[in-house]
Amino acid sequence: MNILLISAEVTPFAKAGGLADVTAALPAEWKRMGHNPIIVMPKYGFIDEKMWNMEPTFLTLNVPMGYETEFAHLWHGTLPGSEVPIYFIEFNEYFARDGIYGDPNEFFDNDRRFIFLSRAAFEAAKALDFTPDIIHAHDFHTAFAMAFLKTHYRYDMRFARTAGVYTIHNLAYQGKFNPFRAMEFSGIGHDNFYKGSWFEHNGTANAMKIGIMFADKITTVSPNYSREIRTPYYGEGLCDELNYRGPDLIGILNGVQYDKWNPAIDDAIAVKYTPNSIEDKMKNKIDFLKGYGLNDNDGLDIPLIGIVARLTEQKGFDLIESVLERHISEGDFRFALLGSGERRYVDYFNYLKSKYPATALINIGYDETIAHKIIAGCDYLLVPSRFEPCGLTQMYALKYATIPIVRQTGGLADTVNEYSKVSGTGTGFVFLHYDPDDFAFALRRALSIYTSEPHWSTIRQNAMAMDYSSERSALQYINVFEWAMEKVR
Ligand code: ADP
Ligand code: GLC
Repeated sequence: MNILLISAEVTPFAKAGGLADVTAALPAEWKRMGHNPIIVMPKYGFIDEKMWNMEPTFLTLNVPMGYETEFAHLWHGTLPGSEVPIYFIEFNEYFARDGIYGDPNEFFDNDRRFIFLSRAAFEAAKALDFTPDIIHAHDFHTAFAMAFLKTHYRYDMRFARTAGVYTIHNLAYQGKFNPFRAMEFSGIGHDNFYKGSWFEHNGTANAMKIGIMFADKITTVSPNYSREIRTPYYGEGLCDELNYRGPDLIGILNGVQYDKWNPAIDDAIAVKYTPNSIEDKMKNKIDFLKGYGLNDNDGLDIPLIGIVARLTEQKGFDLIESVLERHISEGDFRFALLGSGERRYVDYFNYLKSKYPATALINIGYDETIAHKIIAGCDYLLVPSRFEPCGLTQMYALKYATIPIVRQTGGLADTVNEYSKVSGTGTGFVFLHYDPDDFAFALRRALSIYTSEPHWSTIRQNAMAMDYSSERSALQYINVFEWAMEKVR
């Protein structure tokens, strides 16, 4: 199967969150299965060409943008750890900047940049003489590709039998564009923008809605989230559209690349371990604590609870704020955080760090190595999200025998089960209501089994035995691609 995957983020080239991990993991698996994927993404200014052995193809793309044509250059590379070709769209005016989306404020021309990317992907396929069976777009950034397939390229023989699959990683970010700009840049024209059209939502040109309406099949990143978003509470204003497309909407749980996230082979951690040498996990805790000037005897008897996340409201930081200080001030546990994002949370964690230097171990910033060290070194991982389409860190944690404490929402509910002291089943601790008391109670349940045998050993073995591999998830996408292709044959 020829698959053209378009994304604004792909690990390791450009990553803001889990989207990048998934758009790297899937094509690598498809290639191993014998399919023929290629990836198209922007050539951002911060990507180091030499480090990734990128080379110009010397192909020029003529990309129609409204009444004009813009000329982009195409670069070539290989997705590390795989044989997947990856093509970078070079257009400096849009992409030679330091951020992916703009931080803290989004770039004012994100509509233009991402409509351009979505269109350039088709022109890249033409220039490369690549005839896709599937165009796979991810999140609102590349959603316009779904519309282009059914409009501008509908009568192009190359794409006549191409099906469009659109994956929603996060419905909260929709790309609500100014219709005057979006309808012009996309070349679809103002005539197609009116109340009730597939392009319109509450007066904006809504890229997320466009992806949902034009795709042959729509997927989301966990089965539970695919059901949740069909309700008003989680539907972010688009639940009618999602229900309309209900028969074509499928939840596929994200997978983990266990060649990157596996304590048996992880070079980023101090001491590797397996289910048979789980006692070595402790050495990673010691190593992590040493980094804060704490020595071996200083903290092994109290639990270490970690979190690795974007500092945004989605991740449940207001719940954390409401219970954390009480616990760390009393020394119930140590708290390790790695995150970057909103100022208000950065300020809060810096405050904790200065007040409780021995119990609040705070890292503000983005760092892959520290992410691995926290996942390996902690006893528990917190993911108390307000909503969570899938969530990757709780799946990493399970593999590292780091016990997740999660809210029962989205993919968290699909991947973590409450531990039962009676049956000895379950892999973590789960609470339903987005409420400090419910959260605090889950924390208490979790802490009650710390070093309490046989529970502590049992839950850690249960956790490590879970298998959420990206191979399984990649296979499910292939099934969906086959169904999508039936629609266009
Ligand atoms: P989301 O995509 O909503 O941010 P996920 O759990 O799906 O949430 O994915 C987050 C990914 O980003 C994980 O791979 C996680 O390890 C990584 N990550 C988040 N924050 C940081 C950080 N500050 N430093 C390093 N990695 C991070
Ligand atoms: C989004 C979601 C997250 C999901 C990730 C990868 O960023 O917030 O839950 O795991 O995409 O699909």
